[in-house]
Amino acid sequence: MDVIFSGIQPSGSLTLGNYLGALKNFIPFQETAECYYCIVNQHAITVPQDPKLLHSRTRDLAALYIAAGMDPKKSTIFVQSEVPEHALLGWMMICSAYVGEMERMTQYKSKAQKQEKKGGFIPLGLLTYPPLMAADILLYQTNLVPVGADQRQHMEITRDLAERFNHKYGEVFTIPEMWEPKGGARVMSLQEPTSKMSKSDENEWATIHMLDEADTIVKKIKRAVTDSLGHVHYDKEKQPGIANLMSIHSAISKKSYEEIEKMYEGQGYGTFKKDVADLVVGEMQPILDRYKELKGSPELDAILDEGREKAHKKANATYVKAIEAMGLYRK
Ligand code: TYM
Repeated sequence: MDVIFSGIQPSGSLTLGNYLGALKNFIPFQETAECYYCIVNQHAITVPQDPKLLHSRTRDLAALYIAAGMDPKKSTIFVQSEVPEHALLGWMMICSAYVGEMERMTQYKSKAQKQEKKGGFIPLGLLTYPPLMAADILLYQTNLVPVGADQRQHMEITRDLAERFNHKYGEVFTIPEMWEPKGGARVMSLQEPTSKMSKSDENEWATIHMLDEADTIVKKIKRAVTDSLGHVHYDKEKQPGIANLMSIHSAISKKSYEEIEKMYEGQGYGTFKKDVADLVVGEMQPILDRYKELKGSPELDAILDEGREKAHKKANATYVKAIEAMGLYRK
């Protein structure tokens, strides 16, 4: 049976990118695999966080996981900081990694640059982020990791670290593969469609948040940047805005780009944008409704308590193997 692990940071309000690139794809695995879905709050603190906000976003994210269709009877849903083996194995992975390979990570370079611009200091955790992510995955003997295209480099380093450890200390870890949605489902900014849609974009028109109300979603899609060519055609170079809206359409409607092109032949962008907005609202509204019900409910704590116990059991078994292999024990 496949073992699936994935996680999302509670570092901001989740976007349509997080949903189509990751969360939506977590759900079908529940039917066939052993699934671990984590709220990776220790990754969020690699950049400064307001403690109260971090706490509430952690709960919000758990509620969103469940609202999106995660079933606690089928999946183990838990908070990273409540299973100490993540940080413990994370340290062992840090000690197996090299400074040079960490400094070459593109996410490190861009996040470090942002921090430097803001305040001058680069948190060391930004550099040691990939070994912690490797620990997350390896603790569960995971073989498949559903993530968006932006995580490819992190997945490569996870495999490298696992192979390096196994080679040096014996076969402890399963080597995991990345699982990407068809077509990549890389959702781009609505205002600057050559860069990724992100939780932290300062332009509110650039990002659709999972908790946006229907009328906000409609307005944002209406204002999405397009071009003056006037035909719905998939060309990332010449029509990046339209290509982005087509990929959102396709991820929800399951229609191919050719089918979408045919549907809007001879029409302007108005009808197309309206249909994309309807699709997004249709997908998000039930999630938003269920999220509102779950947010304050005691059900959420019971689910996360049980998740912590189940995750801890599995993680500890691997952790014990790893410390024994490395010689980190006394008796
Ligand atoms: P994070 O929190 O930045 O994003 C969570 C997931 O959402 C995907 N994603 C996108 N997909 C398509 N289009 C976008 N615009 C977009 N923005 C985000 C990401 O690819 C990701 O799958 N390092 C991870 C968190 C992590 C993790 C793990 C993931 C920590 N440990 C172990 C998997 C396994 C991250 O920063 O995700």
